[in-house]
Amino acid sequence: MTNVSPSAAVQSCGHVVRNNRVSSGLIRLDLELQGPAALEAEFLPGQFAMFNLAGERAFVFGRPFSILESGSGKLALLYRVVGRGTKAMEQLRCGDEVTILGPLGQPFSKPADNIPVVLIGGGVGLPPVRAWLDKFGRSGDLGFFGARDGADVPWELLDESWHISVDQDKEVPSDRSAWQGLVTDLVAREIPDDDSRERLVLACGPIPLLKAAADLASSRKWKCQVSLEEHMGCGYGACKGCVVPVLDAQSTWRNATCCQEGPVFFAEAIDWTRYGVPANKPDFNIAD
Ligand SMILES: Cc1cc2nc3c(=O)[nH]c(=O)nc-3n(C[C@H](O)[C@H](O)[C@H](O)COP(=O)(O)OP(=O)(O)OC[C@H]3O[C@@H](n4cnc5c(N)ncnc54)[C@H](O)[C@@H]3O)c2cc1C
Ligand code: FES
Repeated sequence: MTNVSPSAAVQSCGHVVRNNRVSSGLIRLDLELQGPAALEAEFLPGQFAMFNLAGERAFVFGRPFSILESGSGKLALLYRVVGRGTKAMEQLRCGDEVTILGPLGQPFSKPADNIPVVLIGGGVGLPPVRAWLDKFGRSGDLGFFGARDGADVPWELLDESWHISVDQDKEVPSDRSAWQGLVTDLVAREIPDDDSRERLVLACGPIPLLKAAADLASSRKWKCQVSLEEHMGCGYGACKGCVVPVLDAQSTWRNATCCQEGPVFFAEAIDWTRYGVPANKPDFNIAD
């Protein structure tokens, strides 16, 4: 993976042009950014932005979000309300001002044309994998999305080419279909064991999904990159609040900053025995 320099990130102001639900739990936020730097800043799939409110409403720390769509000074995010910051985002109205710092972090790879990509997104993990398919998708690349149930699938963002799985098959629209079970089991079903093609898996979602994607890829001898949604403070390497345990070439572990070395990592580089275990990290909720 080529490292992308954080110096390419710019701080932009913008305003809200849309903020509404696209599923029972997912909200799409569309922004228009101002200034020439914002127009030139190009987000590669897997990179993220630190989002904040503007003026007196701003939080001490912005919140990290992957990019669903970007270009020509426009930016779209997809989020779920989980706490104070996302609750404040939900209340934004058209015309409200916001700030964006980005692009930040390392993007997903783009492999050679003869290596098909398997994209796996779960819930709010959809933006980077959908952005990859929109920007780089070729025939043979396959998109998979997993949700709790049909009501939580953002159907308008997923055309018929996406393979969709749900934990419970209630509320699937009559003109669409979804398979009931884990999204990684659906991948295994769609790409049988005897298919020996080299592939690259790109995955984003909850940790169990990432681990299952990594295990499936390993069992099929596919390469796999995962995008980690760590807690973040600064977003550019200063606070060390986002560290994740990774393994070096000698299989000894060290802490890597998710915001700079990630959020995209090769699955084999993650120390899965330590990842996801609560660590002694700064609590950004105290003073935000
Ligand atoms: C690179 C990256 C990309 C992300 N992309 C998206 C995205 O596209 N859409 C989206 O909805 N969310 C995304 N997240 C997660 C998002 O940043 C958090 O949901 C958000 O910061 C929560 O802010 P809050 O103030 O509402 O919650 P808080 O009040 O800070 O926390 C509320 C609850 O959410 C948990 N939480 C907070 N931050 C995170 C986090 N980073 N990961 C997991 N749990 C967290 C807390 O432990 C707590 O239980 C991304 C995170 C990273 C690092
Ligand atoms: S969020 Fe501050 S170092 Fe990564």
